[in-house]
Amino acid sequence: MKKHFFAQLDETIATLKTQGVDVIRLDIGSPDLPPHPSVIETLNRSVSRADSHGYQSHLGPLSYREAWAGMYKRVFDVELDPAKEIVTLLGTKEGIFHFSQAYINQGDVVLIPNPYYSTYLRGAEFAGGEAHFMPLLAENDYLPDLDAIPVEIADKAKLMWINYPNNPLSAIAPRSFFEEIVSFAKKHDILICADAAYSQVYYGEDAPPSILQIERAKDVAIEFNSLSKSHNMAGWRIGTAVGNKSALEKLLKLKTNADSGHFGPMLDAASHAMVLESSWIQERNEIYRQRRDVIIQSLRKLEVDIQSPQASLYIWCPIPTSWTSEKFAMAMLKEANVSVAPGTIFGSRGEGFIRISITQPRKRIEKAMQKMSTWWKTGDK
Ligand SMILES: Cc1ncc(COP(=O)(O)O)c(C=O)c1O
Repeated sequence: MKKHFFAQLDETIATLKTQGVDVIRLDIGSPDLPPHPSVIETLNRSVSRADSHGYQSHLGPLSYREAWAGMYKRVFDVELDPAKEIVTLLGTKEGIFHFSQAYINQGDVVLIPNPYYSTYLRGAEFAGGEAHFMPLLAENDYLPDLDAIPVEIADKAKLMWINYPNNPLSAIAPRSFFEEIVSFAKKHDILICADAAYSQVYYGEDAPPSILQIERAKDVAIEFNSLSKSHNMAGWRIGTAVGNKSALEKLLKLKTNADSGHFGPMLDAASHAMVLESSWIQERNEIYRQRRDVIIQSLRKLEVDIQSPQASLYIWCPIPTSWTSEKFAMAMLKEANVSVAPGTIFGSRGEGFIRISITQPRKRIEKAMQKMSTWWKTGDK
């Protein structure tokens, strides 16, 4: 198994740093802004208690699961039973990988979008599953074309990954798509795993929908969610899987063998984060919106044909056709000292694109755009 792309990139950038190079990192989606101050205060209070240092139950405290249930009710108007429909995760990446091990057997077909978040594929491969890719095309609004999945594959498939708002494409799925996918899952007896890690990073009026808003979606779906992006807590490893009880039981059983729960004070502080006023999230999203606009304007000046994304932390940017995305990203890193993610780390459909992240302060993004623009205009681009 290969090292994860970002682990390799960290090493390359560390070497450049030792040579005195100031690399501006627009590659990874790790929020640069801190959580709300009251979240840190809650952590400090909780960590100071003598009784907060022992093992936690694998389920995590009821208060943590109730906080997720409360946030799902408030944001999506979805009811969740904290006793049976919510599993505590060490971030969704852990949950996505472990769920694959718990649910997929040798030879099972797993439907995966292309481009994709790499853990869907790595998790399936590690479990011995066989990936069938669903291309996400601009002409289909970056939604998988369910009619294009051969019936024999759909009948054989055990699980389907979907991810909206999408990384790396930033597309949002309308409710009607979730309705369609729930009926498809019922017809072909497939479990839908919806990855909603970006559901509260958006630039329109309302939060993008959750699949669990669809009637009886819990019969066929689980959803993964996280405070990494929504509450600027990526390093805290705070996540959940919610929805279908029997699928979640399998995940929990595996996790009782793999980890020993999370650190209690982190879960206390995370529970507090989930009851914060939604105005905090909106103000933070406004900061992202301004950064997004800086990047979009710079790209349009370079005559790049680009849409302004309505959610997530990324700009999916086409590159000149004479380049591969990996060579382009590496040349930009070495020559302009701006680091972006090559599209191909998200699968074959990422060829011809780079992904630019907005998780740096605006001034730093402006500097990166100046450097990138000067570089882009030179040579054979
Ligand atoms: C689509 C998607 N899902 C899941 C994750 C994992 O997030 P975390 O493990 O921090 O919850 C990421 C992280 O970048 C992501 O982009």
